[in-house]
Amino acid sequence: MEVTADGSPVEVYLLLPPNGEAEIVHAAAPPGASILELGSGAGRVTHPLVELGHEVVAVDDSAAMLAHVRAPAVRARIGDLDLGRTFDVVLLGSRLVNTEKDADRQAMLAAARQHLGPDGRLIVEWHPPEWFDTVASGQGGLLGDVEIELSDVVRRGDLLSATVHYAARGRRWRQEFTCRRLVLDDVLTSADLAFDRWLTPDRSWFSARPRRRG
Ligand SMILES: C[S@@+](CC[C@H](N)C(=O)[O-])C[C@H]1O[C@@H](n2cnc3c(N)ncnc32)[C@H](O)[C@@H]1O
Repeated sequence: MEVTADGSPVEVYLLLPPNGEAEIVHAAAPPGASILELGSGAGRVTHPLVELGHEVVAVDDSAAMLAHVRAPAVRARIGDLDLGRTFDVVLLGSRLVNTEKDADRQAMLAAARQHLGPDGRLIVEWHPPEWFDTVASGQGGLLGDVEIELSDVVRRGDLLSATVHYAARGRRWRQEFTCRRLVLDDVLTSADLAFDRWLTPDRSWFSARPRRRG
């Protein structure tokens, strides 16, 4: 079974259906906007974005994930990315920004900022601070054919570790993760970005723009 460097099981991401992510991005983007999607996985969000009329370049460091992407794709660590062009929208989804590793977050945000045009928007899906107070073992649900359940939630200061269990078609997978509670202003300022707006009522999606100088 193929598992990415961050522990994502490829088969699970092929089974999981889109869950409205592309529509959130589309509503916040200009019509036909070019989109750089960071951490695209197998294209669960990429493909609906293409269907909504966007030019999407998908980036992931997993060849096993990218093998399923039906759009221009670049295999790279996000923090090392340098495509020599800018996009109308850079998408950093899947709560990658909540990585426990501060250096990885800084590198990801710097790469995102570098690929934004002057009027571009960074669109981020994150765990908002309040999620860290409310998430609990046993939570989960059904997404498409995939049953999802969280266990072993442990809090240590700003860090939260847990295991997510997936079950579908008589098979089971698990993914352990640790994520960090963030202060939005600190995150954006450190990457020379300014808050734009919330994209969902639960504040799990927001957009940001390059900070104007002078
Ligand atoms: C949880 S999966 C989500 C995939 C996709 N965004 C989705 O929603 O279906 C996270 C993906 O991000 C990729 N990823 C995580 N950190 C990365 C990094 N620093 N550079 C490149 N890819 C990364 C993993 O390989 C994996 O495919």
